[in-house]
Amino acid sequence: MVNLFVFFFFFIIISFVNVPLSSSLEQDSHFLKRGLVQQKYLEITRPLPFANLTPSCTLPILTHDFENTMGLPPVSVNYAPPVKCSWNHVALQFNASCKGVQYDRIAAVWLDGVDLFRTSTAEPTVDGVFWSVTKDVTRYSSLLVKENISLSVMLENLVDDVYTGVYHVNVTFLYYDVDEMGVPLSSRTDHRKFGRGSLGLYDDHKRAAADLIMPVSGYGSEGFWFKIQSDSEWHGKSVMIPKNTYKAVMEIYVSFHGDDEFWYSNPPDSYIRANNLTSKRGHGAYREVLLNVDENMVGSVVPFPVIYPGGFNPLYWDPVVSIGAFDHPSYDVDLTPFLGVLLDGKSHFLWFKVVECLPFWLVDANLHLWIDKQCTGDCQVQAKIIDSGTPDFEMERSSSFDGLDGSYEVELKRKSEYRGWVKSSAGNLTTTVSRALEFNNKIKFHDKGNEKNVKQKVKEEIEISVVESERGIKISHTSLKRKYPLTITTKTTTKPPSKAENGTKLILSELENEWSEKKKLSEGDSSDSSSSSLKNGQKCKGWMDVQDNVVFQGEATTQQSYSYNGEAATSYSREITATNGRLINDTANYLHFASLSTM
Ligand SMILES: *[C@@H]1O[C@H](CO)[C@@H](O)[C@H](O)[C@H]1NC(C)=O
Ligand SMILES: *[C@@H]1O[C@H](CO)[C@@H](O)[C@H](O)[C@H]1NC(C)=O
Ligand SMILES: *[C@@H]1O[C@H](CO)[C@@H](O)[C@H](O)[C@H]1NC(C)=O
Ligand SMILES: *[C@@H]1O[C@H](CO)[C@@H](O)[C@H](O)[C@H]1NC(C)=O
Ligand SMILES: *[C@@H]1O[C@H](CO)[C@@H](O)[C@H](O)[C@H]1NC(C)=O
Ligand SMILES: *[C@@H]1O[C@H](CO)[C@@H](O)[C@H](O)[C@H]1NC(C)=O
Ligand SMILES: *[C@@H]1O[C@H](CO)[C@@H](O)[C@H](O)[C@H]1NC(C)=O
Repeated sequence: MVNLFVFFFFFIIISFVNVPLSSSLEQDSHFLKRGLVQQKYLEITRPLPFANLTPSCTLPILTHDFENTMGLPPVSVNYAPPVKCSWNHVALQFNASCKGVQYDRIAAVWLDGVDLFRTSTAEPTVDGVFWSVTKDVTRYSSLLVKENISLSVMLENLVDDVYTGVYHVNVTFLYYDVDEMGVPLSSRTDHRKFGRGSLGLYDDHKRAAADLIMPVSGYGSEGFWFKIQSDSEWHGKSVMIPKNTYKAVMEIYVSFHGDDEFWYSNPPDSYIRANNLTSKRGHGAYREVLLNVDENMVGSVVPFPVIYPGGFNPLYWDPVVSIGAFDHPSYDVDLTPFLGVLLDGKSHFLWFKVVECLPFWLVDANLHLWIDKQCTGDCQVQAKIIDSGTPDFEMERSSSFDGLDGSYEVELKRKSEYRGWVKSSAGNLTTTVSRALEFNNKIKFHDKGNEKNVKQKVKEEIEISVVESERGIKISHTSLKRKYPLTITTKTTTKPPSKAENGTKLILSELENEWSEKKKLSEGDSSDSSSSSLKNGQKCKGWMDVQDNVVFQGEATTQQSYSYNGEAATSYSREITATNGRLINDTANYLHFASLSTM
């Protein structure tokens, strides 16, 4: 993973003093910190509702040291669920440790080619770092019951005399029998609707995991993800779905790297050209992953800006990493209105492209399918698209530059509404999926390009309604609102304590990043309705002295506020402050989770 800022400001300054940028610098522009102490890293999130229970079985599935793994296929082991074990919930636990000096890396875990987990690694210290991430993977139960399938982990790493860190990884599945443990019904219901990792809508109107999951991913020798290098590439897979499918949801995993690791802060190419800069990190600051079925675009994702542990100032992410760094969100697109197309008995090409991208993006997806088990033999679920409307799309860009100073803005609005009926043994149901997306990004350069401000807002609203087709009786209604505001200010100066003569820079920065969402689900006549909200924000401030890509001194403070409210009895909040590698304040409040632990 490569950091823009060092590099970017580097050559801005270098262009002042007229020293050509060496190509090795361009290749090698991550931030590395030179930490000493032993640390336990963490991403702040709420505990799984069943985390305090004792698992009915534990399956250590993989132990591996990722040393020189660049260019190698993922590591694979055989998976089979534990025998004689009663379970209905499953968690994946990814533990890792590393000692020495190493860049942050990207990793993923696949089961039978289905992406279960996407994570970045922490940058180690000389005495070593350790972290553990637990993700609810109950959603993938239809795979987790299968025998003789492969679990694969990819983590490309390079070890030499300088970059000495080897990543030691353990992957474990924890199986829980939540009902037998006597978890209250309300919490059980709540968890199924809003469990960690389920940022999407998968089980909102059918409170059960999919019956079948088909990967829309690569073939494995370079990882099961598609590596997308440019706007002109598309990647996907032909799939033929069972003829008794009555619901389909595409779950998309995305991460961005190389010249696009900080895509939301990339200036337009015109700025780079006008200033004779050698940076490749351009193409402006708008990216969107488009999902298509054959010739039709059916959805899109503007991903949350996950910042990897070497990003902006690595001291920010010690010991608390950025939102999503250890457990990348995935994004759901409900394709039920398109079953009319997908159920025609032919195979269809499901594919992605990343608009305006630079090398490289790692994208893959899982097609979750729900099967009508009463429809067997000659029976076939019938479906038809009623209306795919005329999706609205508006985009505006503006830019004004004078030398290295100036501003750039890009704004996007997208609206769509898709409607289709599906007749299964549950009846003839019409699903309407409406979506509104707003994206706005502003970048400003001041002080001869030495100060840069980025302000981005992403806002998305999705509504899914299901009604009985003939009589229009409401079955369910789901609404999801999400916002991801991001602001970043970076200043490069040559004032003390840094001495420019030996090639060091003082970089000051401030960063605010937030994920907030509200979900509401009502069923039938609305008597059964539930809602949840999450606000998870980080504020960081600090400085660092950097030489080449190495941070040799600095200070940083990260504050995070996490607040989740579910149904009446379920809430969790946590406030932390970390300064210079130490958690100085950490207060958590939980309702309901606390009562569980006493059982
Ligand atoms: C992985 O598991 C092995 C065996 O239990 C243990 O020795 C090692 O410390 C673990 N490593 C991590 C990173 O959890
Ligand atoms: C992983 O880390 C967790 C939390 O520290 C610990 O409870 C668990 O035993 C670890 N598992 C392995 C296999 O190292
Ligand atoms: C497991 O899968 C492999 C490869 O698909 C196959 O060769 C083998 O026979 C299978 N074993 C069992 C026990 O099903
Ligand atoms: C960029 O390079 C061209 C050709 O070498 C030169 O004419 C121009 O002045 C340079 N522009 C800047 C802003 O340095
Ligand atoms: C399902 O309902 C729609 C809308 O009322 C109707 O057009 C369609 O014919 C129905 N499908 C079947 C198989 O009855
Ligand atoms: C560069 O200068 C700074 C400030 O004087 C100093 O702290 C740092 O050690 C120097 N770096 C090297 C590699 O000499
Ligand atoms: C830490 O918590 C204490 C007591 O709750 C509070 O007084 C103090 O302002 C907090 N410090 C920071 C830096 O948030």
